[in-house]
Amino acid sequence: MHDVYKPRVVVLTGAGVSAESGIKTFRDNNGLWENHRIEDVATPEGFAANPDLVYQFYNDRRAQLQAPDVTPNQAHKALAELESALGEQFLLVTQNVDDLHERAGSERVLHMHGKLLSARCCNTGKTTQWLDSFDAHTECRCCFPGAQVRPDIVWFGEVPMHMDEIILALAKADVFIAVGTSGQVYPAANFVAMAADSGARTIEINLEPSQQNSLFDEKIVGKAGKVLPEFVTHFIRDYC
Ligand code: APR
Repeated sequence: MHDVYKPRVVVLTGAGVSAESGIKTFRDNNGLWENHRIEDVATPEGFAANPDLVYQFYNDRRAQLQAPDVTPNQAHKALAELESALGEQFLLVTQNVDDLHERAGSERVLHMHGKLLSARCCNTGKTTQWLDSFDAHTECRCCFPGAQVRPDIVWFGEVPMHMDEIILALAKADVFIAVGTSGQVYPAANFVAMAADSGARTIEINLEPSQQNSLFDEKIVGKAGKVLPEFVTHFIRDYC
């Protein structure tokens, strides 16, 4: 069957998808992210107040992500399989800054909150893949003389990336699936309402009901690594 007869599917993922790969979620630890207040490590004000702490925090996260025991889990793999089945009808929007979706084989991925394995030039805004540590003295590779680089992360109070593309995809979606996200952070928390307004069927897959749970047509409670592969198998069988 040609792709055009398959449903258009937009999937939104959050930290819960990577939890079973050993990466901690944001809101399961008394509001602390790896023992830090989110305000200290994930806001422009926190960066201005203590840049060394913020560079170190993301250097640690970057190193942790590249540790040999951090690998994609069954949930990442199931989404790569769904993309293979749907082709251009599929879009994955992730709030996660890790690269586990890509490592599982996903290609049609938009990182709306940035990427851990990337550095952003403070002068031009240009981003470059960056696997090592960097700090306030590290120079970008795009300017001469080199300018300062910062983590390529969208902090609270900053505008998420790829919003035009995401809004367009939500407007055309037949199915919207949110996986492993608490639904507490906007604009991602609004995506279910936007997709529903466009007539999409909406499905939540999460360990517990999220803040947006009542807005979804269908709710599946469980660990993403277990319930998502089952869901994808049935979805491909029925619709692809
Ligand atoms: N399977 C499915 N869901 C899970 C699992 C799992 N194995 N483990 C945890 N969850 C659920 C939690 O119950 C919670 O509802 O995943 C959700 C994770 O929520 P958050 O920690 O709030 O993460 P997220 O929604 O991605 O946060 C959004 O907030 O801090 C910012 O920019 C950061 O991208 C992040 C954004």
